[in-house]
Amino acid sequence: MRLLTTAVAALALTVGAQVATAAPIELKFSHVVAENTPKGQMANKFRDLVAERLAGKVEVKVFPSSQLFGDGKVLQAMLLGDVQMAAPSLSKFQKYTKKLQVFDLPFLFKDMAAVERFQNSSSGQKLLKSLEKKGLVGLGYLHNGMKQLSANDPLRVPADAKSKKFRIMTSDVLQAQFEAVDAVPLKKPFSEVFTLLQTKAIDGQENTWSNIYSKKFFEVQPYITESNHGVLDYLVVTSAEFWLTLDDDVRTELKKALDEAIAHGNKIAAEKADSDKAAIANSGRSEVLTLSDAERQQWVDAMKPVWKQFEDQVGADLIKAAEASNK
Ligand code: SIN
Repeated sequence: MRLLTTAVAALALTVGAQVATAAPIELKFSHVVAENTPKGQMANKFRDLVAERLAGKVEVKVFPSSQLFGDGKVLQAMLLGDVQMAAPSLSKFQKYTKKLQVFDLPFLFKDMAAVERFQNSSSGQKLLKSLEKKGLVGLGYLHNGMKQLSANDPLRVPADAKSKKFRIMTSDVLQAQFEAVDAVPLKKPFSEVFTLLQTKAIDGQENTWSNIYSKKFFEVQPYITESNHGVLDYLVVTSAEFWLTLDDDVRTELKKALDEAIAHGNKIAAEKADSDKAAIANSGRSEVLTLSDAERQQWVDAMKPVWKQFEDQVGADLIKAAEASNK
């Protein structure tokens, strides 16, 4: 009897030890921006919430500043299981769906409130599923903000951009946008932009206030035109293979934490659009140019025909729904 009790106790100990030492699921979150940006702060908040609520079950490891993957590779790596979460800019999905190109159309959204309304609309929510056939799951949108144009020379009207080289994200819409003003767009990774600008290999680029500030583009670009000509937002994605094989309770808890982290990131995005713009304007390194209504209208007239070019790929109805969010 004593022997049996000892054997049962030993078995219980072994099973207990196995349960206690079962490794948590590792969730690698890769992104390309600095930690002091809306996306960097969102990812860190998500990591911290998961550490609080799913301790021992899931561990989130965040890799900022293209340390793990640049945006050109991250989605492929996700499908191979080498990374579980990322939030590339909406401009970087065209290999996987043409629908998200709607977000790149120049002068489509008048401000971030319109972007938010569209993302929350049924058309916007449907777009979260546009990657499903490719094995990716859209978990939610995250804001960064409206894009501005920076350059070595002042850009006041489209003619000022003629023949100038601009770095763009990997988006055919953005390529067409710069070709519409006779500029030369070059698709380059985010991690290379500062050096390209510093060495004057390119003349300018487009980005949000927080990216221009956190990556110090303003230190090597003497002029920034407040054009608000487009939006740079993100889609938080994971692979279906990872997401759908999680236990239901873990998936529910992760999604809840992510939604809270996104709300946190969106708040920071709104604050940073103002504070980073002010920091740049006060830096003495870069002059912020404000366009007159007539100057801005010239950019609109030159770039808006791009909508027609992409109407077949994006869908006229989707463009209309996006436009309706301005009201
Ligand atoms: C990002 O904000 O994730 C990068 C944007 C860019 O590539 O310009």
